[in-house]
Amino acid sequence: MTKITAAITGVHGYVPEDVLSNEELSKIVDTNDEWITSRTGIKERHILKGEGLGTSVMAIEAVKGLLAKTNTKPEEIDLLICATISPDHFFPSTANIICDKVGLPHIASYDLAAACSGFINALTTGAMFIESGRYKKVIVVGADKMSSIVDYTDRTTCVLFGDGAGAVLLEANTEGFGIQDFILKSDGSGANYLIQEGGGSVHPPTHETIDAKMHYIRQEGQSVYKFAVTRMADASAEIMERNELTGDDIAFLVPHQANKRIIDATANRMGIGSDKVMLNIHKYGNTTAATIPLCLWDYESQLKKGDNLILAAFGGGFTWGSVYLKWAY
Ligand code: UT7
Repeated sequence: MTKITAAITGVHGYVPEDVLSNEELSKIVDTNDEWITSRTGIKERHILKGEGLGTSVMAIEAVKGLLAKTNTKPEEIDLLICATISPDHFFPSTANIICDKVGLPHIASYDLAAACSGFINALTTGAMFIESGRYKKVIVVGADKMSSIVDYTDRTTCVLFGDGAGAVLLEANTEGFGIQDFILKSDGSGANYLIQEGGGSVHPPTHETIDAKMHYIRQEGQSVYKFAVTRMADASAEIMERNELTGDDIAFLVPHQANKRIIDATANRMGIGSDKVMLNIHKYGNTTAATIPLCLWDYESQLKKGDNLILAAFGGGFTWGSVYLKWAY
């Protein structure tokens, strides 16, 4: 029997119009372009402004564009998964709202929360439905409105994050293209290093939790950095080893965009040069679940059928992992 693999057959992204530069941030908090650029690689980020506009607004644009460019009819889609940690609401799922607004019929749809590793977890989940033969076409969206949970008086986090969405179409493939292997890990003992403490069932929102700013992201940057730099590189090196790949075999590393120094360390460990690393952190910052699909969107024109890609991520949880895939078009 022919093996079915899950291949990405299209990608589209969306970032809001408004741009927040390092220069502008330095007028809000005690920071400067030199610090942000040298420590993170970020120059600017896009911010979704406007009353009542949530993560779904960006995801809807990404999905609409994806359907149009791949000539896919809404009724062909079997499942939509939205990776996000800044959903429109705790419930209903942002995925349900996306499907309704895009005109996808009554299909399976749900959110998946794995912070900065959300996209690779959602992608591999979607792939399993296709590999099993159960579904033919799955949309995986990574979308986050990080500006809704960032404290713009906290210079240690507000410079890092931006808003955006990216979506891919996964289809069944019988020629061996698509997802070949993946590694997914988590370690909840790291929860307190990167967390939105308030608003959930442990600390439901009250005047006190709001006053204590518990609804915002809190990060112990240095501690997270130490884990991120080793775990992301480990996961990338391990997936290469077990698939007998060397740096020469890799067309691109597609890394989560949290810090250029973490990305450089991962590429170094994999034995690949900077020309093979997808990078857009300078213009979008860290868009959490959207970083990897936004990279694929930005670099789509440079990709060729059969290219070996390694996707790698690390984030809150902790969660981390890597995906090895063969580009299908
Ligand atoms: O995507 C999810 C996973 N997250 C990550 O992977 C992020 C991992 N962590 C990082 O990328 C880095 O730790 C940061 C970029 C967040 C921070 O860089 P760092 O080199 O670890 O800086 P630091 O936290 O050690 O701070 C160094 C100094 C401190 O001042 P003192 O104590 O040396 O006087 C900070 O107060 O830099 C100061 N600082 C700033 N200065 C100017 C912190 N934030 C800023 C800022 N502007 N925005």
